[in-house]
Amino acid sequence: MKKFCVIGNPIEHSLSPKLHNFWLKKNKINAIYEKKLLKENEIPKLIESIRKSEINGVNVTVPFKNSVIQFLDDLSSDAKKTNSVNTICKEKDKIIGHNTDIAGFELALRYINYDVKRKKALIIGAGGVSPSIIFALKNMGCENIYLTNRTLEKAEKIKKTFNDIVIQKWGDIPDFDIVINATSVGLNNDNFDLKLNKVGNNKLFYDVIYNPSETNFLKDAKLNGNKAENGKMMFVYQAHQSFALWNKILPKIDEDTIEILK
Ligand code: ATR
Repeated sequence: MKKFCVIGNPIEHSLSPKLHNFWLKKNKINAIYEKKLLKENEIPKLIESIRKSEINGVNVTVPFKNSVIQFLDDLSSDAKKTNSVNTICKEKDKIIGHNTDIAGFELALRYINYDVKRKKALIIGAGGVSPSIIFALKNMGCENIYLTNRTLEKAEKIKKTFNDIVIQKWGDIPDFDIVINATSVGLNNDNFDLKLNKVGNNKLFYDVIYNPSETNFLKDAKLNGNKAENGKMMFVYQAHQSFALWNKILPKIDEDTIEILK
């Protein structure tokens, strides 16, 4: 039997096991997908298990997307560019890190037919997922990307990789068409100290968070006449790409798939 898992800390909220086990069963693959709460010093041991084929694939979530890199043999070009790994597999005896968050975000915007060309995008947060969102926006032709983060230095560090983005001081909200919450604010029904409702309506508010399905960021967006989208389809598409890397099968994304995540 094959074994897959997602590692993170915390990990309780992760819906990856639910989704992957559903697809494994649907595709009659003899495998199991679990979640593992890990400390950083336990990562090398986990990588050894992949090397010995005791584990066949791993997803990585907060806070290890960057720190896991030092233990891998090689990275895909997307993982290299973003310094972020969310999927690990063994290829020809090498442990390789991939980044499927990029495709996840791109496909989620395509799913709602949102075209970012000639649009202004504001990203809130400079944590683990932000470089993937910036990279995806650039891939899709977005030329005006603003980044703001409570801790300015973290945003400035990302600018070293993506030097054409514009850093905004925390609290300075530029004019935008789409705003993306890439922070952990909202996971616990909490709020920003940002004044986003002064920006007018008809904007897209995108939250990377999918659980809870409607954060205060999205609730307020709707109240002010904006479109609100949570991170559920980004989550589904990144998992879809990981599944394909490991099992060489693209599972179906249908109503049943979306239903099990409710
Ligand atoms: P990590 O920072 O370890 O990569 P993450 O969950 O990927 O973890 O990122 C957390 C993000 O949420 C960061 O951008 C963080 O801002 P700081 O860099 O200033 O810590 C942001 N964040 C968390 N709590 C916040 C809050 N109460 N207000 C504003 N931003 C917050």
